[in-house]
Amino acid sequence: MIPAGGAAITEFKCDVPATLILVDHSIFRAFNKGALGMLQVEGAEQKSIYSGQQDDRIYQAEGGAVQTMPSEPKVAALPLTKEEKMTKGKAIYASTCQACHQADGKGIANAFPPLAASDFFASDPSKIVTAITHGLSGKITVNGKSYDGVMPKQTLSDAQIASVATYVLNSFGNKGGEIKETEVVKLRK
Ligand code: HEC
Repeated sequence: MIPAGGAAITEFKCDVPATLILVDHSIFRAFNKGALGMLQVEGAEQKSIYSGQQDDRIYQAEGGAVQTMPSEPKVAALPLTKEEKMTKGKAIYASTCQACHQADGKGIANAFPPLAASDFFASDPSKIVTAITHGLSGKITVNGKSYDGVMPKQTLSDAQIASVATYVLNSFGNKGGEIKETEVVKLRK
């Protein structure tokens, strides 16, 4: 704290170039006498420290009318890689599907059909997706055995469904493949 009328000598170290505004917090003196300083620092940019000037408007004194930041266009999240889907899918399977289809994917005779080496979706992997998004009921045949149960639709996001379906396709002796989030969006309709 520098008392009114006092002075101080300060040393600055600056990692990025900028024009730094030095403010006297005795703010009336700053406005009335111009007791503000500007420190011009030059040198190479370092974007990892300071990405560059964004917007000054919210700092201006015009009042509430300009106190909003302009919204930036949303950057879509990058789609997950197959490896990421496998890791997430495994966890989703354990928390969402396993209770019925079992940890080994073999299901329970006469109640829950197997996802292990299932011929039900072997030629059409989108059937995994629609079973999750719309539920599945009525008589079906899986690996030669018939089932007539009800699978309620599961409340999972498109990304979660892409992950768990990819996990099922690449686990339990199924033949592999990958489901994209964009496919889930289409199939959900
Ligand atoms: C509440 C129990 C239950 C849960 C939870 C459940 N299912 Fe099912 N699932 C069933 C039943 C019952 C059927 C058979 C429906 C029928 O007979 O028409 C089925 C059928 C299926 C089928 C088609 C038949 C086959 O075996 O290939 C797939 C694929 C499937 N489920 C995937 C999943 C996935 C993936 C999840 C987790 C996201 C899941 N299920 C969660 C009960 C469940």
